Amino acid sequence: MPLPSPLVDLFDLSPGSPLPLPRELSRLCGEIRFPRHAGRPHVIANFASTVDGVVSLGGDGPRSGGSAITALDPHDRMMMGLLRAVSDSVVVGAGTFRAVPRHVWTPEVAFSPLGAAYASLRNRMGLAPQPRLVVVSASGKVDLRQPAFHVPDQPSLIVTTPRGKARLLVRRPLAEGALPEGPEVWVGGEGPRIRPRSVLRGIARNGRARLVLVEGGPSLLADFLQDGLLDELFLTVAPQVAGRDGASRRRGLVEGQTFGPERPLWGKLRAVRKGGDLLFLRYGFGPGARAA
Ligand SMILES: NC(=O)c1ccc[n+]([C@@H]2O[C@H](COP(=O)([O-])OP(=O)(O)OC[C@H]3O[C@@H](n4cnc5c(N)ncnc54)[C@H](OP(=O)(O)O)[C@@H]3O)[C@@H](O)[C@H]2O)c1
Repeated sequence: MPLPSPLVDLFDLSPGSPLPLPRELSRLCGEIRFPRHAGRPHVIANFASTVDGVVSLGGDGPRSGGSAITALDPHDRMMMGLLRAVSDSVVVGAGTFRAVPRHVWTPEVAFSPLGAAYASLRNRMGLAPQPRLVVVSASGKVDLRQPAFHVPDQPSLIVTTPRGKARLLVRRPLAEGALPEGPEVWVGGEGPRIRPRSVLRGIARNGRARLVLVEGGPSLLADFLQDGLLDELFLTVAPQVAGRDGASRRRGLVEGQTFGPERPLWGKLRAVRKGGDLLFLRYGFGPGARAA
């Protein structure tokens, strides 16, 4: 995949200090800043949506997710890689994990031409070689043989329920706790929904995390928003109209919770960038953002 043109910075009021991007990344992506919080990580999400708000065209496989929304646009892949590169952990729900078998949640797999630059950035930031992969699953229906759980230098964690843990333990004869190879399995709640706070607690058990990236899907994002634990949303808007006919299972950005009009959830626009025909929007949520 060729390198994209540099993103055009249209507006940026994002808080925090600039990250030490290597020259190639700062040329292509501009400056990127994140705030720090005492005693808790900054939690961001990254999604790609059509102009009519669809994030999944339905079905399984790579065509069900962000790739089909942006047609693998290199600007979007570059930003996805950058956000993975600056994160301590990348969190996905089991629906997203199951939808893209064989996917690996590393920066270089998001956008391989910048793999070396992402690695250099992690090194400059004092981060581990790879972000930890965290999969959230109440059922424990997660295939432990997936390559995502066996990436060199990438620790992984499944946050689940007692029932889910039992299922996972049966699938793989193992003792309690961390495996010599493959994911650690940790009970984060009784279910059916594990509280996002508990997911963050599971991440903190393995050391301090400053930035946690939620990469979906819509159900897990809904739970983070519901509990007021999402600080920022990075939303790529692709110039595609997906449409809905009521027959196909197309997902919007948030599924399983409603907010407005009873509990309207407003964000604050923090930054706008343009890459080709894609828009890269950054919204603040939570206590730091303006309530409308
Ligand atoms: N366009 C994009 O940027 C983007 C990004 C991400 C995903 N997607 C797409 O979205 C689709 C998946 O949607 P989805 O809503 O099913 O995604 P999801 O949130 O990844 O998966 C839902 C599943 O994850 C687990 N889960 C989520 N929140 C949980 C919680 N709080 N506690 C316990 N378990 C929890 C449950 O797994 P169990 O069933 O195992 O209990 C649940 O059934 C896929 O097509 C994917 O490709 C698109």
